[in-house]
Amino acid sequence: MSKPQKTLLVTGGAGFIGSNFINYINRRYPDTEILLLDALTYAGNLDNISPKLKSNGHFQFFHGNITHPDIVNKLVSEADIVVHFAAESHVTRSIYDNSIFFETDVIGTQVVANAVVNHPVELFVHISSSEVYGTALTDPMDEEHPLNPMSPYAAAKAGADRLIYSYIHTYDLPAVIIRPFNNYGPCQHLEKAIPNFIVCALQDRPLTIHGDGQSSRDWMYVEDTCEALDRVLHTERDRVIGQAINLGTGTDTSVVDIARKILKALNKPESLLQFIEDRPGQVTRHISSTKKSHDCLDWKAKIDLDEGLDRTIEFYRNNRQWWEQGMKELWLP
Ligand SMILES: NC(=O)c1ccc[n+]([C@@H]2O[C@H](COP(=O)([O-])OP(=O)(O)OC[C@H]3O[C@@H](n4cnc5c(N)ncnc54)[C@H](O)[C@@H]3O)[C@@H](O)[C@H]2O)c1
Repeated sequence: MSKPQKTLLVTGGAGFIGSNFINYINRRYPDTEILLLDALTYAGNLDNISPKLKSNGHFQFFHGNITHPDIVNKLVSEADIVVHFAAESHVTRSIYDNSIFFETDVIGTQVVANAVVNHPVELFVHISSSEVYGTALTDPMDEEHPLNPMSPYAAAKAGADRLIYSYIHTYDLPAVIIRPFNNYGPCQHLEKAIPNFIVCALQDRPLTIHGDGQSSRDWMYVEDTCEALDRVLHTERDRVIGQAINLGTGTDTSVVDIARKILKALNKPESLLQFIEDRPGQVTRHISSTKKSHDCLDWKAKIDLDEGLDRTIEFYRNNRQWWEQGMKELWLP
């Protein structure tokens, strides 16, 4: 940021990527004012925020819902930049009970975007998802890939993504749409594949794999995402406003290979792999083009999969109390 004391409103910053992002921003720019708005659903946890940030006088937490215009308008009116992470984020949950996905991810995004129309900011960073694309029709998938969402979660995210696109064109919203591919790293809820595999392996429990495990994803370590978002905030505004930008590594790895890598790193037998029926609405392949993120942000992911997995395993090995809490809330159909 050109001025160090900018005020950043972060929605959903008590969740996985949002908390890693605000901790990262605070480490690099300790004077940035951070306003965190989070409903603290099962996925939000204030313990994810570093104690140093909580006590440095530049952080305020607001317990509230993005679908409530009063609090959203108040906070947006105090912000220079809005980074909008808040969402229901778990594909499997959306298959069994999807209303909350459309309420939070679409209506919530509409409320935040309307607040930005009413109280203009310098930049609105909308966190979309690679899930909006559905299965890869091209290798790699660039930002022009058709949007073929295959689960209610993906459809809700695609709705929000296109809502922001329409606001850019109708209301001149100074927004950029960011489409991260599959993130992993510290503080990710156990319902997601990588932390789930790690915790199961640590406890010698089976690692359940949908179908034959050959579906592949472009896995990105969360710190790389934080660095890319830092670039979004700091690059010239006209390089990003109005754009949709993928954040991925440009390589894909199958789910079963991820599980095998985790077992190997923890010295556990492959007999722990357990194959179950495939999930409906399964995306079979995701692989990101890295060209646009490089062109717009001068950025490329740095942390390779083995290093990222080692770091993530280290987190779950050393923070048992954190994930045991999450296990109580673990939801399985
Ligand atoms: N994790 C990934 O691999 C990934 C990949 C691509 C995109 N994304 C997107 O990135 C964003 C963050 O993902 P995540 O994995 O950190 O999610 P998460 O589920 O870990 O965190 C979501 C956060 O949003 C909060 N929240 C939910 N509903 C809310 C509401 N109505 N009002 C206010 N706060 C609310 C939760 O309490 C939680 O803190 C989401 O928009 C998600 O769709 C995630």
